[in-house]
Amino acid sequence: MPQAIDYHAARPSQFQDVAVPVRVLAVSSGKGGVGKTNVSVNLSTALAQTGKRVMLLDADLGLANVDVLLGLQPRANLYHVLNGEKTLEEVLVQGPAGMLIVPAASGIARMADLEPAQHAGIIRAFSELSHPLDVLVVDTAAGLHDSVTSFCRAAQEVMVVVCDEPASITDAYALIKVLNRDHGLMRFRILANMVRNDNEDEGQTLFRKLVAVCDRFLEDVILDYVGAVPHDELLRKAVQRRQSVMEAYPSSPAARAFRNIASRIDQWPMPRSARGGIEFFVERLINSGFDDPEPAAS
Ligand SMILES: Nc1ncnc2c1ncn2[C@@H]1O[C@H](COP(=O)(O)OP(=O)(O)OP(=O)(O)O)[C@@H](O)[C@H]1O
Ligand SMILES: [Mg+2]
Repeated sequence: MPQAIDYHAARPSQFQDVAVPVRVLAVSSGKGGVGKTNVSVNLSTALAQTGKRVMLLDADLGLANVDVLLGLQPRANLYHVLNGEKTLEEVLVQGPAGMLIVPAASGIARMADLEPAQHAGIIRAFSELSHPLDVLVVDTAAGLHDSVTSFCRAAQEVMVVVCDEPASITDAYALIKVLNRDHGLMRFRILANMVRNDNEDEGQTLFRKLVAVCDRFLEDVILDYVGAVPHDELLRKAVQRRQSVMEAYPSSPAARAFRNIASRIDQWPMPRSARGGIEFFVERLINSGFDDPEPAAS
């Protein structure tokens, strides 16, 4: 059942209604199936549990991932907002810990395919959002499609999820290379997922592998290690229960790791306020649809 949103519940009372810059974090990977959606959902939940006002944008335009993972059945999505059939507020669905979810716009393949009226619609939709946010997490699709690069370029922070498979490192490198060479991004946050036995060392080893490849072929890329999330059967069980692991198994190893990573994210420098608002993210998103050198091969 679609859930009605109680905006007061979604906005704990200690929040002041002042315009603050929004931290926009795109979660990407190159390779599919490494855990982007689980990382997005659980990190968003962990941040929301610390009192942050969090919105999660399901930017996997082809598939409805986040709602499936959380057992939500939204009646409308971003597509209806773009077409002017709904306001953004009308399509928002409440997720764990009061976070707000923008369901995926299935039916749209690329930002660049949107009509000018739809661009105006999405900018208006986000700038008219009546409740302030601290963090916007963007769960992107796998691959190097231009919708993925558009979302990464528009975000202030790109988190690349890797796991211990050769294809994961290769594809993460391919993503970083495209974002760096074609779009000028220089800084990437690296999260190691599905490491064995809560082993930070395995995460660090994966990180160093990626640093080695990037150092060799890309001159001005800076990678920062965010931390590791263990392979955790309880996370899989939570997925089966259509819940975030933060809620289903709060003391599981994965939930602990997400809480640690959320507290590290909280210490990252905030974007400068002049260009930090949500509407600038959306403007950058729309603009980035047009000057991609060419659509990446599917
Ligand atoms: N830390 C983890 N421990 C155990 N299983 C995990 C973990 N992270 C992800 N998984 C499992 O891996 C699978 C893929 O996860 P998820 O859907 O989040 O990946 P994705 O990168 O978003 O995939 P896609 O590229 O298709 O969007 C799921 O079955 C999920 O339950
Ligand atoms: Mg996904």
